[in-house]
Amino acid sequence: NEAVAILISGRGSNMISLVKQASGYRVALVASDKPEAAGLVWAAAHGLATWSLSPKGIGKAAYEARLDAALHEAGIGTIALAGYMRLLSDDFVARWRGRIVNIHPSLLPLYKGLDTHARAIEAGDAEAGCSVHVVTEELDGGKVLGQSRVPILPNDDADKLAARVLAAEHALYPRILSEFVMTPFDHVRDVALTLPETEELIGKS
Ligand code: GAR
Repeated sequence: NEAVAILISGRGSNMISLVKQASGYRVALVASDKPEAAGLVWAAAHGLATWSLSPKGIGKAAYEARLDAALHEAGIGTIALAGYMRLLSDDFVARWRGRIVNIHPSLLPLYKGLDTHARAIEAGDAEAGCSVHVVTEELDGGKVLGQSRVPILPNDDADKLAARVLAAEHALYPRILSEFVMTPFDHVRDVALTLPETEELIGKS
């Protein structure tokens, strides 16, 4: 079973669904940039290894070096971001190339970044949803591995829509993560092929 680390910043409802529906992977670490994150309490109470450190004061590079060390110490193969609200540096993403996935509350490539639900309602969209994607240096820009759709209803506000999308997230993420860990090489290769250095190498061969 692939050892997965789940990175959270808050309540961790996606982390809980990944733990409860784990298949083909085991959650070997729950890590957070917010030592007070509610999800850490749930994880510890359920016997999971936890790690947390605030980047405030020590800086991003030192924080990520400590995170990287904790991930290696736990023997992590794949990182699943689940409501992790901090951008990983290009350097960190490169070190874990093709081995980080994220869930984003929109139908990517629509609405990258924040306030996805308000933006979908404002645009008059008939549907919203969530996407699980490979993490690259481009914000919410890596290969989409799976999506789930929900309707936008006439009386929706951002909170109502968020709740409907969240239920879809809880069903989607464990399923896609299972598929991902069982075919890691394909995903690594797909991502690697988009790198300029690789294109150069292919061109020269
Ligand atoms: C989820 O809706 C997730 O898709 C979103 O934050 C929420 C976290 O909830 N993530 C992002 O917006 C990432 N940019 P949770 O902590 O209960 O899983």
